[in-house]
Amino acid sequence: MAAIESVLKENRVFEPSEDFKAHANVSGMEGYNALCEKANQDYEGFWGELAQELITWKKPFTQVLDESRAPFYKWFADGVLNISYNSIDRHLADKANKTAIIYEKDDGSSENITYQQLYERVCRFANGLKSLGVQKGDRVVIYMPMVPDAVVAMQACARIGAIHSVVFGGFSSGAVKDRVQDAAAKVIVTANESVRGGKNTPLKATVDEALKDGDCTSVEKVVVFKRTATEVPFTEGRDIWWDDLIAGQAAECEPEWVDAEHPLFILYTSGSTGKPKGVQHSTGGYLLGAMVSMKWVFDYKPDDVYWCTADVGWITGHTYIAYGPLAVGATQVVFEGVPTYPDAGRFWQAIEKHKVTTFYTAPTAIRSLIKLGADLPKQYDLSSLRLLGTVGEPINPEAWMWYYEVVGGGRCPIVDTWWQTETGSNMIAPLPGAVAIKPGSCTLPLPGIMVDIVDESGASVDQSNGGFLVISRPFPSLLRTIWNDDARFQATYFPEELGGKLYLAGDSAHRDEKGYVWIMGRIDDVLNVSGHRLGTMEIESALVANPLVAEAAVVGKPHDVKGEAVVAFVILKGDRPEGEDAKRIAQELKTWVAHEIGKIAQPDDIRFGDNLPKTRSGKIMRRLLRTLAKGEEITTDTSTLENPQVLDQLKHSV
Ligand code: PRX
Repeated sequence: MAAIESVLKENRVFEPSEDFKAHANVSGMEGYNALCEKANQDYEGFWGELAQELITWKKPFTQVLDESRAPFYKWFADGVLNISYNSIDRHLADKANKTAIIYEKDDGSSENITYQQLYERVCRFANGLKSLGVQKGDRVVIYMPMVPDAVVAMQACARIGAIHSVVFGGFSSGAVKDRVQDAAAKVIVTANESVRGGKNTPLKATVDEALKDGDCTSVEKVVVFKRTATEVPFTEGRDIWWDDLIAGQAAECEPEWVDAEHPLFILYTSGSTGKPKGVQHSTGGYLLGAMVSMKWVFDYKPDDVYWCTADVGWITGHTYIAYGPLAVGATQVVFEGVPTYPDAGRFWQAIEKHKVTTFYTAPTAIRSLIKLGADLPKQYDLSSLRLLGTVGEPINPEAWMWYYEVVGGGRCPIVDTWWQTETGSNMIAPLPGAVAIKPGSCTLPLPGIMVDIVDESGASVDQSNGGFLVISRPFPSLLRTIWNDDARFQATYFPEELGGKLYLAGDSAHRDEKGYVWIMGRIDDVLNVSGHRLGTMEIESALVANPLVAEAAVVGKPHDVKGEAVVAFVILKGDRPEGEDAKRIAQELKTWVAHEIGKIAQPDDIRFGDNLPKTRSGKIMRRLLRTLAKGEEITTDTSTLENPQVLDQLKHSV
């Protein structure tokens, strides 16, 4: 709570400088208010005009919003377009030789790719996919390192109307298998290995393991990108090298023109129950959200050098690497490595080297870099920077101030962008030439995004009261459904309890006297570990799948770098282990979770007990577990507990 309380007391305000304001795409509160006013008066007209202005349509739309099957909203439904055409082809007339991607490799070398070269690479790979029989609507899983070819693969799918499902390269074979099966993917695109922080990690071997039991019957081909010289075993008839696939393919590929509502991609994310949900995005509305936010929030200018440090395995890497920057014709850095290799000055060194103007990263990265080298930014020339951004979790004011002063030289606005996998693009964030910023607040909604904070009945709360963050009008980049699960989509995001029309984000928040939004945390059992979203239930299911484990409960505890750390309370089938035994089993379980889900889900802290604290009706008292996880004393009444004696056991970490 300490972080939240300090956020609540924050009262520093930073106005945009006159200079920034003068050149901004949206200038001053007059500019911001005028856009909001327009959206309020003619919501469809507002979005319709933007969609006409920013997107190149093959066939224009005649209807902006179709609410007839709410909450299954449709935007620009009879419009026809291709997002790869919008990202690449339309820039070729005047920007063919402009650098699209600066590939900053793990080893510190770099390589530039122009829009013309990107076009040819995407077309060749798109033709390669077609030669494998991939057709419009087919699903392609992309399990790749952070190399430009990952973007090429995504763009190639979009070009031929195939639906990509990118799986973060840090996920394990179990996670790959679940996602491949849920989407019934026809093709998997992977690499022999990834290279990060000087280390090679196998990817193809993980795919082999996911496919080994023959449960992924949908998969016909595995395309393997050769990132390193390491040989990998091939399955005859199934596996093919990327280079062999594109050899002899034409460097042109007519885009598959699709309806605006055609699914562009599926991206799995954690919820409070069940397996990860396949968040399904559209083509037209999604592209509009990406472009509008590039223009308004990132204040995109043609001579910018833009760098978003996310991985393409997450939504940030989709919208703010693979699509948004390309759609506006930007030059962007694609970074393969890690922020701490060869040392904690890596980001600052690369900003100097490439003269980055716009830098977008996560609070957890900022916190870890402060810890490892608060003075390092001063060793580099960061004067090219003009705008900074953060995403993924609330940023504590101390980290914010360091970012603002030491990295940004007190000159660069920080856009703290609140949004989600489901919203597709920034929802609440300052327009940097208009909205004054406050450390720790994502400030005001983007024009056209109708944010509210409501109570359990769906009624707006009074200013200063906390409540559920909702979005009360549909917006273009909202997810369209959960892949293969319309009922879960409706129940999760448009619950009847709130009237069925409000998009429930899953966060709690409050507003200050200026209407600024302060995110307080999730309202569900979702943890935010280093900006990554993890369902407690997913980790619990992974733990109980271990033959030693009878029962497990997972909660989060505050962590000064990761934001939250995973704490697992575990009950074994046999006796409660102690001493060296406990240490050994705890380590075994950590490795197990890393294997079942991925390293990011690995518990930091495992505690063993004879039982979990339960009420007499058998309900696990998670509230008590959260208190224990934080190392705090339980001061509330525990008389309703069936087994208060276990609390003492569960106090102690192994
Ligand atoms: O809790 C909010 C937090 O991250 C959640 C969304 O996670 P995910 O779908 O993985 O997308 C992360 C990248 C967009 C939200 O429900 N969150 C995201 N951005 C912020 C944030 N919390 C506070 N401030 C933010 N700027």
